[in-house]
Amino acid sequence: MAEQPPAPATDLSPMEARRLKLLQPLQLSIISPEKLEHAQQIIEKDKAIKPFWVNKYKNEAAKNWDRFYKRNETRFYKDRHWIEREFTIYKQQPTDTKSGTLNCLEVGCGVGNFIFPVLERNPHLFMYACDFAPQAIELVKQHESYKSGRCSAFVCDLTKDPLTDTIPVGSLDVVSSIFVFSAIPVEKLEAAVRNIKEVMKPGGMLCFRDYALYDAAQVKFSSNPGHMLDTNLYVRQDGTLSLFFSTEQIRDLFEKEGFTTAECEYVHRETINRAMDICIDRRFLQAKFIKQ
Ligand SMILES: C[S@@+](CC[C@H](N)C(=O)[O-])C[C@H]1O[C@@H](n2cnc3c(N)ncnc32)[C@H](O)[C@@H]1O
Repeated sequence: MAEQPPAPATDLSPMEARRLKLLQPLQLSIISPEKLEHAQQIIEKDKAIKPFWVNKYKNEAAKNWDRFYKRNETRFYKDRHWIEREFTIYKQQPTDTKSGTLNCLEVGCGVGNFIFPVLERNPHLFMYACDFAPQAIELVKQHESYKSGRCSAFVCDLTKDPLTDTIPVGSLDVVSSIFVFSAIPVEKLEAAVRNIKEVMKPGGMLCFRDYALYDAAQVKFSSNPGHMLDTNLYVRQDGTLSLFFSTEQIRDLFEKEGFTTAECEYVHRETINRAMDICIDRRFLQAKFIKQ
């Protein structure tokens, strides 16, 4: 369901207007206004760490992800079996495309928790997969289901290495970005979108899922100062980055580069931590963009 524009605010007290403004981007979320306000108060109080460290973490992002995969190998992420439910385009049959194959790319593929389940279920699909961590690509290639006729994995920094070095211009039906843009500093996001656009067919779809503003992970970062690099950008203990998005920010980013928005909305999940007896509010952003 597409997000509806908010109704114009008239005759409101300044306090009411501020409250409404705070809630505007979050209309589709079922998280309560009180929880959101609480989250915003914590985040607003947090301060960025010293510029030296900010630059260091941004410059060493690829190295830190590579270390992450050397340490965790394939143990960290679970297979993304929900992808076909949320992005039904992956169920398409060859009759839907002229070539008989659905040509796809996963950017920031990690160790393949998305590509292998999808390849297994749809025999008509060819999947390129790239990541800037060489160790992740090595693990993808070692996977028992990695077959050269069905997939091709390669190392690529989305923000600076042209995807067209490996993939023909304008050749892809579908691209997915699953929790990847959150690992990229905001000033490099446009370059990543332009790079992806070059390899997509007109009418091709980009499937996007990532962390949303006021997610419990963001509140946790801001509750323990020393992690904030920039507005809504944080560094984890292992040096990897995590950026939290609003629907407006992501929609603007893609529309500015010539995509149209088919869907862009918040997804709210309550996770119960039984050991600590607490309920955690996870907020994600899910979107589909079409290349013109
Ligand atoms: C949170 S993991 C998600 C992995 C995978 N998409 C999944 O859902 O299991 C983020 C991935 O993005 C990759 N990544 C981050 N920045 C990148 C960039 N500039 N170019 C390519 N890959 C990048 C990281 O190496 C990491 O594998």
